[in-house]
Amino acid sequence: MAIQISPSILSADFARLADEAAAVAGSADWLHVDVMDNHFVPNLTLGLPIVESLRKAADLPLDCHLMIEDPDRWAPAYAEAGAGSVTVHAEAARAPVRTLREIRSQGARAGLALNPATRVDAYADLLPEVDMLLLMTVEPGFGGQKFLDLVLPKIRRARELIDGSGGSVWLQVDGGISNDTIERAAEAGADVFVAGSAVYGADDPAAAVDALREQARTAAS
Ligand code: DX5
Ligand code: ZN
Repeated sequence: MAIQISPSILSADFARLADEAAAVAGSADWLHVDVMDNHFVPNLTLGLPIVESLRKAADLPLDCHLMIEDPDRWAPAYAEAGAGSVTVHAEAARAPVRTLREIRSQGARAGLALNPATRVDAYADLLPEVDMLLLMTVEPGFGGQKFLDLVLPKIRRARELIDGSGGSVWLQVDGGISNDTIERAAEAGADVFVAGSAVYGADDPAAAVDALREQARTAAS
């Protein structure tokens, strides 16, 4: 299981996005881009025009996390805009199989996200349609929240389901990941870690990424 780190630019300085992306370009695997519409979540961030610009300005592939209503309508456009990965929420998608297939057909990895209260077993049959399963470890909407330990059993269950289905689906966790929590999430079976405040709140974001990766590697081995 290869450990990957995806820093969330939600905690970066939005007026200096290219510089903030460059700060982790040598250490991170992805750049996590939180798209929020003030409907699916009570916060508003950024959309397609910024993703298009960021793709040209940043060296890292973009990991777009759509916290929006009607992702069926919008997700393929993020893939077409050059995102390397596009994740839609199970709670918002009306036709997840069609939408995941459209994301793949535009050349991106297809992700499915589950909020803390959404059970993973209901989506087990969809794993062949998915490149990455994202388990939220906070209620989505804001950076800097406390990691919810109540999600740990679901991370373990998701790891079982993924290993049982061939093991190629990445298991991402997002929310409250820090040097205090990443080991618990890695031990439970996560392999892709989003971190916003733990990376961009640090004096040296690249060193923070390296330290998180090392902790996760040790905990997962
Ligand atoms: C929350 C977002 C997260 C957020 C994580 O809804 O999906 O990606 O940026 O921030 P931290 O790591 O600070 O919890
Ligand atoms: Zn996110």
